[in-house]
Amino acid sequence: MNVAIVGTGYVGLVAACCLAKSGHLVFAVEKDLTKLEILKKGKVPFYEDGMDEILKETISNGNINFTSNLSLALQNSSIIFIAVGTPALSDGRADLLQVCTVAEEIIKNINKSITVVMKSTVPPGTGKIICDRFFNNSKYPIHYVSNPEFLREGKSVWDWYHPDRIVIGCDDESVAQKIADLYSDIDAPKEIMDVTSAEMVKYASNAFLATKISFINEISNLCELVGGNIDQVARAVGMDTRIGNQFLQSGLGYGGSCFPKDTKGLKYVSSSNGYQFNLLKAVIEVNYQQRTEAIRKLNRLLGDLWGKRITVLGLAFKPGTDDIREAPALEIIKYLADEGAIVRATDPMAMEKARPVLPLNTELFTDPYDALVGAEAVLLATEWPLFVNLDWATVKKQMNEPFVIIDGRNALNAHQLISLGYRYEGYGRSIRS
Ligand code: UDX
Repeated sequence: MNVAIVGTGYVGLVAACCLAKSGHLVFAVEKDLTKLEILKKGKVPFYEDGMDEILKETISNGNINFTSNLSLALQNSSIIFIAVGTPALSDGRADLLQVCTVAEEIIKNINKSITVVMKSTVPPGTGKIICDRFFNNSKYPIHYVSNPEFLREGKSVWDWYHPDRIVIGCDDESVAQKIADLYSDIDAPKEIMDVTSAEMVKYASNAFLATKISFINEISNLCELVGGNIDQVARAVGMDTRIGNQFLQSGLGYGGSCFPKDTKGLKYVSSSNGYQFNLLKAVIEVNYQQRTEAIRKLNRLLGDLWGKRITVLGLAFKPGTDDIREAPALEIIKYLADEGAIVRATDPMAMEKARPVLPLNTELFTDPYDALVGAEAVLLATEWPLFVNLDWATVKKQMNEPFVIIDGRNALNAHQLISLGYRYEGYGRSIRS
């Protein structure tokens, strides 16, 4: 099938490349001309495992075309995906400006009946609003489909081909089937439902996963008070198949482009519909509390932070990505700098993106060993294997007393570090030095 995709960010580009790899003819629309040139040269403008190869392959076999011209893409396709950003506004509401702009452009350029597929994450109810405002009065019939994505950054190519389900929200059975056929090479249940339910599936899934994280973080905080060990607790709790063992890793909490935005977005949708989603409010609050907890731990072990040299390992919101959106490390670094600490940081992928948003006096290092020279404390904010596998005996020789390690991801070997003479503290691990 011929498919147009508007937006070539983390979601749009993965969708474009993977659909092209599956044999569809894809027209990917990007209005940023600098980014467009990078893409045409076969380069991925962000770090995502496996994307380079698929992009090069689909460019060379002619299955993907990049253009800034939405009208051209529309002329060549009968299905158009919208995959533009829907960032959170200051009140938590999802900003639908880019989505609406694309909808307007579609209306201006349409010359035949088409199917619009919403890939961008939009609040439940948005499809109805968009159809009423833009598509229902079009002189050519427009079918509307909600087809949310569940791609994890860093693993999005794998996730594209191995989803747990493909959700298709559409009020017309035959149109829904046409979209299901786009994914005929993917072995996953195709869940067909109405548009608003499909939109809700995306928000509910992310909110539930965020809830699991905040829940285990609360249990972890309680473990610290009563003397339990969260590693053992989470492992055994997760063995209950009704609960499941994923998303029970305690620490600094969730960041990224999805969980923070979608939890706030769902909270906003709830309150604007007169419903107080108290559980979700607590999930969001607990998540931010986890970051403050890192500061509290540093304060307890270092005292006043003024003039203390603290190295932050990791700037990305999780390993395997260069994405720094809502990364706990950034907020913590700002706080440490405000308190007068001398902050050093390093990340194998995210330094370029982080540099412009970090306090000016943050010292950035390419080599983690260099970043640790003279440090009195280290905070592991992102569990990149590179950091977890540091030679901690060598690091200790370079650091200064009191050799504090705050393991923000419970990813380090606490017993080994304590035996090396570090003052180790993780989250909910009652194995203090
Ligand atoms: C998430 C969803 O997993 C994906 O389905 C959705 O489409 C987009 O949002 P992503 O943001 O890429 O994907 O990251 P994910 O791997 O889910 O992790 C999110 C955050 O939660 C990270 O900051 C991670 O460090 C944190 N996390 C995850 C925990 O703190 N504990 C856990 O047990 C799991």
